[in-house]
Amino acid sequence: MTFGKTTCRNFENDLKITKLTEHIGANIEGVDLSDPLDEATVLAIKEALEQNGVVVFRNQALSPVAHRDFSANFGPLVGHVLNRFNMEECPEVTILSNAVNDKGEKIGADRAGMIWHSDMSFVKRPSLGSLLYCVECPPVGADTQFASMFAAYDALSTEGKVRLASLKGVHDYPWHYRTYLSHRTPLTTEEEAKTPPVLHPVIRTHPSTERQALYVGEGLTRTIDGMDEEEGRKLVVELSNFATQPQFVYSHKWQPGDLVFWDNRSTMHRATEFDDKYLRLMRRTTILGDEPFYHPN
Ligand code: SIN
Repeated sequence: MTFGKTTCRNFENDLKITKLTEHIGANIEGVDLSDPLDEATVLAIKEALEQNGVVVFRNQALSPVAHRDFSANFGPLVGHVLNRFNMEECPEVTILSNAVNDKGEKIGADRAGMIWHSDMSFVKRPSLGSLLYCVECPPVGADTQFASMFAAYDALSTEGKVRLASLKGVHDYPWHYRTYLSHRTPLTTEEEAKTPPVLHPVIRTHPSTERQALYVGEGLTRTIDGMDEEEGRKLVVELSNFATQPQFVYSHKWQPGDLVFWDNRSTMHRATEFDDKYLRLMRRTTILGDEPFYHPN
């Protein structure tokens, strides 16, 4: 099969998709992500992502360019809002790492996303999905945990669903940065100005599956619009804890060569701690999404 000058292999019928837990995560085998993919295979991966929230590909050898090109099959890419963490030669790819350069400066975002969140929920059009590739990782720790916000929504009481349907969360990156990232160089005035707080529905409807998902995470949702700040914060933390009960969570234990692709519209995630005697070097791409909405169904 050919597209223009590029020869594409048809992997669709070779894909083996295996669920990892009851509510979230699937492993996909039978595809080399550094090859150009045909449309049917891209569609099969998109469907597996939307059904399972997270898809895992093991044993991939991806250059930053190949990582970018695979990701671009699913929508336009946006780099990190902080340009300093994007690769100079491939700005759609962000480095997450504890490594330092010869000036002793961190080469990427270190300890990014250790509190439950959905990527870029602090902008008007948050990320559809993110793709994280492991170059090197510690032998212990540094797992990434993912929670199914579909499963969390389904487990709410009927009264809870009705009450939450009219609420909006306040997603606030400068607040997040001051609260959780005090080990980093503070945001500049320009960076703060690029990311004013935004409101998103607490329950969002997935644009493809039309399933409802909770859309609140302790890390980026500061409070609830219209509520007393502390009361709203209490509700955010309560919902975040509810959504991350073990039965809704898949924990990914990284190996070099893993590419994990998650749907930010139906999941949230967090990174976990590790010992700095080990190197962690990850590359991430982020796909632009739509403005979140709630449609009763
Ligand atoms: C993220 O929040 O996107 C990063 C997750 C990780 O580094 O494990």
